[in-house]
Parts: sequence; C-alpha cells; structure tokens
Amino acid sequence: MANITIRPESFDDLHGIDIVNISAFEEEDEARLVTAIRHSPAYIPELSLVAEGHDRIVGHLMMFMTQLEQQERNINILALAPMSVLPSHSHRGIGSELVTKALEQAKNQGFPAIVVVGYPDYYTRFGFKPAWQKELACNLPVTREAVLVLELEEGTLDRGGTIIYPPVFHQFYETAH
Ligand SMILES: CC(C)(COP(=O)(O)OP(=O)(O)OC[C@H]1O[C@@H](n2cnc3c(N)ncnc32)[C@H](O)[C@@H]1OP(=O)(O)O)[C@@H](O)C(=O)NCCC(=O)NCCS
Repeated sequence: MANITIRPESFDDLHGIDIVNISAFEEEDEARLVTAIRHSPAYIPELSLVAEGHDRIVGHLMMFMTQLEQQERNINILALAPMSVLPSHSHRGIGSELVTKALEQAKNQGFPAIVVVGYPDYYTRFGFKPAWQKELACNLPVTREAVLVLELEEGTLDRGGTIIYPPVFHQFYETAH
C-alpha cells in the first residue's frame, strides 16, 4: 500500500496510538485498555502494530497473550484487540493490511491460534470462523457470534475448550461505557 508502513509500536508512538484509538472509537475506553494491556504480563511488544503514513500513526492493532483451556492441557494463544484506523483514513485497506501483517507475525512466532471478539463480517474475510462452531467457549460477557477464531497450527482447535481472556480485559468490560 502506497505510503503506509506497518511495523511494531515503539515508545515514541504511544501518543499517536492514543489519538487513533480515541478518534476511531469516539471514546477513551479502548485507549485505556491498550495502555492497561501494555502494562500487563499479556503484552507482546512486537505484536502491537502501527500503520504509519506521512509521519503520523493512522492505524493500530494489538495482539496479546491469552489462554485456551482444553481438557488435558492449557495452551498460549493470541487475542487480537483492539484495532483501529483514523476515521479520516478508513476504507482504504489500512485495517486489512494491519490484520494481514498481524497474522503473518503470529505465524512466524509460532502461535497456534488467534481469537478475536469483533464484527464477524469483518474478520471472516481473513479466515476467522465462529468459535462456537469449534465448541469453544469464552470467559467474556459477549454474544457467541462475536467470538471468532483462526487456527494457525492444524488441529489446535479440534478439541474444543474455553478461551480465558486475562484479567485486564474483564476490567474493561466492567468499566467500559
Ligand atoms: C474496523 C476498522 C478497523 C476497519 O479499518 P479500515 O482501514 O477502514 O478497513 P479496510 O479499509 O481494510 O476495510 C474496510 C471494510 O471493512 C468493513 N468494515 C468496516 N467497519 C466495519 C464494521 N463496523 N462492521 C463490519 N464491517 C466493517 C467494510 O466492509 C469496509 O468495506 P468498505 O470500505 O467497502 O466499506 C475501522 O473502521 C475502525 O477503526 N473502526 C472503529 C473502531 C472499531 O470498530 N474497531 C474494530 C473493533 S472489532
């Protein structure tokens, strides 16, 4: 994509990331969530990506560590959230670029699966499927249709289980407007 670079976030980007999240969500809750994840054990710096264009941050996507509890084992998987693009830059493919790059990085790092809570119509285009179809539950207070999963390592999601989001995410649902 012309003039857009996707790369891991750095300390100098934090203010720009706040602006993107507050503008895209039209409130501050998601920006606070991003900061809270960054200060939690779930944070993986190289998997929090920015889209940079014309010397400013125009998009952001965070992935962080979460757990999949299955009958005989618990495994680390990734959760994707939040993601945002400046309203002035939306509908130009920047969100898609961020997701595509994020999936590539997740595979490179050897994560076996990714979960996202979001718009089914948006994420299914990248291969995400409804979690309930894989008999996967989730410990967040959301509808089952909103939970989508992508398998990166074959067979990981064949045993069902429960996706356990970290405490920082529950605080978000308890306090978000
Ligand atoms: C969702 C978002 C990240 C998409 O970024 P983007 O750069 O516009 O995405 P792309 O250009 O790659 O794709 C645009 C397509 O996404 C889809 N899309 C955008 N918002 C959507 C929504 N709320 N629900 C379903 N699909 C949506 C549309 O099909 C759109 O196609 P169009 O351009 O033909 O209308 C951006 O609109 C945003 O920041 N929204 C507000 C914050 C948000 O809701 N984040 C997602 C939380 S799950």
